[in-house]
Amino acid sequence: MTTYKEPTARGYYGQFGGAFIPEMLYPNVEELRDNYLNILADPEFQREYQMLLRDFVGRPTPLFEAKRLSKKYNTRIFLKREDLCHTGAHKVNNTVGQILLAQRLGKTRIIAETGAGQHGVATATVCALMGMECIVYMGSVDMERQRPNVERMRLLGAEVRPATSGSQTLKDATNEAIRDWISNPVDTHYIIGSVVGPHPYPDLVARLQAIISEEMRKQLLEKTGSELPQYVVACVGGGSNAAGAFYHFLDEPSVKLVAVEAAGHGITSGHSAATSVLGKPGIIHGSRTLLMQDEDGQITEPYSLSAGLDYPGIGPLHAYLAAEGRAQFISIEDEQALRAVAECSRLEGIIPALETAHALAALGQLGAGPDDVVVINLSGRGDKDLETYMKYADSIQ
Ligand SMILES: Cc1ncc(COP(=O)(O)O)c(C=O)c1O
Repeated sequence: MTTYKEPTARGYYGQFGGAFIPEMLYPNVEELRDNYLNILADPEFQREYQMLLRDFVGRPTPLFEAKRLSKKYNTRIFLKREDLCHTGAHKVNNTVGQILLAQRLGKTRIIAETGAGQHGVATATVCALMGMECIVYMGSVDMERQRPNVERMRLLGAEVRPATSGSQTLKDATNEAIRDWISNPVDTHYIIGSVVGPHPYPDLVARLQAIISEEMRKQLLEKTGSELPQYVVACVGGGSNAAGAFYHFLDEPSVKLVAVEAAGHGITSGHSAATSVLGKPGIIHGSRTLLMQDEDGQITEPYSLSAGLDYPGIGPLHAYLAAEGRAQFISIEDEQALRAVAECSRLEGIIPALETAHALAALGQLGAGPDDVVVINLSGRGDKDLETYMKYADSIQ
């Protein structure tokens, strides 16, 4: 049976999910599928995972009441400070968990894909911590626009390999990583960076990010007297920070879940990554989900100024949340996100990542009232985007 939290045994959320993989990948995925739940439930794994989240990542991350933003939008806004995680974004919650999993599966070599570079940095970081070989695939366009993160990965001892096909962004990097995994089935673990890919990855990554909403509930109780807010808002690339922020609220119908996608230059512009609006069911990277595609089923190249959101699909959980109407989907254009960067920086003293700014830009569209509590998942910090912010300084004014 599907619940929002747990897919079926074969990895389905409603009609979405599954594992559509070439035969040569089957042993890798099967090994992971057969072992991940037992490993995650093992007390020794949990002890090490919780210790690393606390002492290495810096959890729990604060839940900060954003008073000046609250005043502007006439509602009570809290920011879940994933930007304060070690390495600057939520991505490390997942990589810490997956590296422990890889060790228990006897793997010695780690591969990953990255868009904005945050997942690549988080992977390179845990590989350095554990003394594992690390290869990160990254689209060459993304290598250019997220240069500081490329340098960070190299400093951490990872090899960054450019993906030069297609739009030379996240989708293409993921293709390269899958190709590598097929060629290295025995010693290699593929740390996927979002709730995408074949079963069990969407479920595995959602469980590892669920710490975000676990903490939110406790912190909300302390600060507002109730564990439940009226709104939880998060940006969606593949959907991992949103999955983590939504997870412990999925079965609470009174909590409105708001997923914010990148509209790029505009939904109808042909330069967008708003998958829930433009996508149709299809298969990408081993999973049946909503996918931007043309009449012939060819994947449409996605576009967003933000390197972490320009993915032509979304995770199968999010496709299901969209289909069932459990989450509301909002699309935000580049310009709106850039304005939200300035607003958060100047009203709260926090420079958000460009991905995160999409969630912040949705504040005006929620319809939240003065008695409502709104939690925005502040998925990452903006240091990596400084060059982009300087280039678009006119839009930010
Ligand atoms: C700061 C930040 N937020 C959000 C995302 C989007 O990824 P996801 O949808 O998996 O959270 C990224 C991706 O790189 C990111 O770096």
